[in-house]
Amino acid sequence: MSKICVKNVTKRFDDKLVLDNVSFEIKAGDIFGLIGPNGAGKSTLINIMTGLLKANNGEVEIGGYSISKDPLKAKALIGLIPQELALMEPLSAYDNLEYFGAFYGLGGKLLKEKIKEALEITGLSDKKNEKVKKFSGGMKRRLNLAVAIMHEPKVLIMDEPTVGVDPQSRNYIFEFIKKINKENNTTIIYTSHYMEEVEQLCNNIFILDLGKEVASGSKATIKSMASVHGTIKLTLEDSNEEILLKLKELPGVKDCFINEDKINIFVDNLKFDLEELLGLLAKENKKIKSFNVEEASLEEVFLSLTGKKLRD
Ligand SMILES: Nc1ncnc2c1ncn2[C@@H]1O[C@H](COP(=O)(O)OP(=O)(O)O)[C@@H](O)[C@H]1O
Ligand SMILES: [Mg+2]
Repeated sequence: MSKICVKNVTKRFDDKLVLDNVSFEIKAGDIFGLIGPNGAGKSTLINIMTGLLKANNGEVEIGGYSISKDPLKAKALIGLIPQELALMEPLSAYDNLEYFGAFYGLGGKLLKEKIKEALEITGLSDKKNEKVKKFSGGMKRRLNLAVAIMHEPKVLIMDEPTVGVDPQSRNYIFEFIKKINKENNTTIIYTSHYMEEVEQLCNNIFILDLGKEVASGSKATIKSMASVHGTIKLTLEDSNEEILLKLKELPGVKDCFINEDKINIFVDNLKFDLEELLGLLAKENKKIKSFNVEEASLEEVFLSLTGKKLRD
């Protein structure tokens, strides 16, 4: 089993507390999103989880092996795509794969097979003899992906894999993640400060800010934790300032404004009651032309939990 446990991890750089008692578990076969703004501590946490950095306190287990006490067994389960790419620029794609494959202990016929597979799955077969320094950012990411999966890791950890990547490579990376997760049951840890990506890909999510947990759990759980549940978009046959003021008075309505011909109503899911809204409109004789409830995005959830925008 390649379950992952992060227990009470704390990290200081000199006096600066960068990770503050972080704990979570990841089920085998999950696509797990680690999100937070720049500087939140994501890369530091990834580096601790993969044994590249030591925590001041706490423990990480990969598939039951402690990364500090049993590092070889734990690391054998992991493939890492670091935020700063690790490739040899003067060499060709093929030679990079050969070099890193040997590093993972692959050789001979098996190594050749694995290189071929890795090139195919990342769509780089026809570029295999080109030097990496001529590659675009997206192609380099894909090659780093190829390197990370050659030894068929049970757990693939990706640190901001789509930063500086063209849309085509981004799609490739997404499709690739879904494919190996589905076909090989590979556990994926996906780190990003792009909420839309995490929202699209991940089942379970951990939100980190300033080294601390902001929220964690399934996507649905996290969304329901936010006080902003969503936006109701309403078109009335006749809307005016007067009805806007009355809508604002309803319990659970946080804000309300007219955008083009639609009234946008932001509601707090714990206090808002749809019956009351409909009751008010009936009493005021307002006919509804269209009615739409939109779920909060993770971006809005982050805003409502931290009071900050994810990207400035
Ligand atoms: N080697 C280091 N020495 C000192 N401070 C560091 C070091 N690495 C990271 N930091 C600091 O730790 C914080 C978290 O950084 P990082 O883990 O890279 O965040 P993220 O990946 O979420 O953007 C930042 O404030 C960063 O400046
Ligand atoms: Mg980072």
